[in-house]
Amino acid sequence: MPHTRSDADMHCLPLLDLEFIQYLEDREFDMIYPEKVQRRSQIHWSPIHVAQYASRFLVTAPCTRVLDIGCGPGKFCAIGASVTEGFFTGVEQRDNLVRAARKMILSYGLLNVEIIHANIKDICFQNFDAFYLFNPFQENLWKLFRIDALVEVKPQLYLEYSRYVAHELAQCPDGTRVVTYWGDGDEIPACYKCVETAFGNHLQMWIKQGADSHMAASARGNQPRSKGKKPLHPPKAPADPLRFLL
Ligand SMILES: C[S@@+](CC[C@H](N)C(=O)[O-])C[C@H]1O[C@@H](n2cnc3c(N)ncnc32)[C@H](O)[C@@H]1O
Repeated sequence: MPHTRSDADMHCLPLLDLEFIQYLEDREFDMIYPEKVQRRSQIHWSPIHVAQYASRFLVTAPCTRVLDIGCGPGKFCAIGASVTEGFFTGVEQRDNLVRAARKMILSYGLLNVEIIHANIKDICFQNFDAFYLFNPFQENLWKLFRIDALVEVKPQLYLEYSRYVAHELAQCPDGTRVVTYWGDGDEIPACYKCVETAFGNHLQMWIKQGADSHMAASARGNQPRSKGKKPLHPPKAPADPLRFLL
């Protein structure tokens, strides 16, 4: 079995079999992480099937640069990198999750993934082609969904981060793709249209429209987002990373 290594083993190669990732169940994949990180998986990390579906929508050409906004222990990035030809960058504010993600990536020998330890507000979106968000800022609103007590959470931060993401996405070129999972769309500007949903509407695929089609949609009163608030969670060696910092 590939996931029986200790932390010490993970510092050394040989690597786990990359081909193997796509056949794993979530519980098997998660076993690569420290127990604390595994315990958060059902609620906080993307399921494998969701990550496969989302990354196939986001990657439209070899080397499409995908940013996972709040990547946790890198599960979405790893799955996406194993089933597409995209390059996946995860940004994560929690140091322990960054370490878990980097160890996992090393142990699989994934070359098309990198993890940046930073706050999303320090990342310039112009360096990416496509974006994934699994409800990253929700813990600022719902204490129940706090991952841990290691970072400050407060409603003001939810607004601040969502507005920053919306502002950056609005600057991206027409045709930019975004996927949200269990989100309420607060980070998605009105110039993006939801073109497809999956997994009971919880996975939403968005594409930025040109100014013409956006104006036509507004004239028809066809605003693609602004859904009501609802609980948002299910029960359940790359180049220099600093190049993305503002
Ligand atoms: C629900 S988890 C999703 C993890 C991963 N994207 C996935 O799909 O498996 C959200 C993550 O976003 C991170 N996060 C929240 N706010 C952030 C911020 N301002 N900057 C960077 N990371 C952030 C959290 O620490 C958490 O790991």
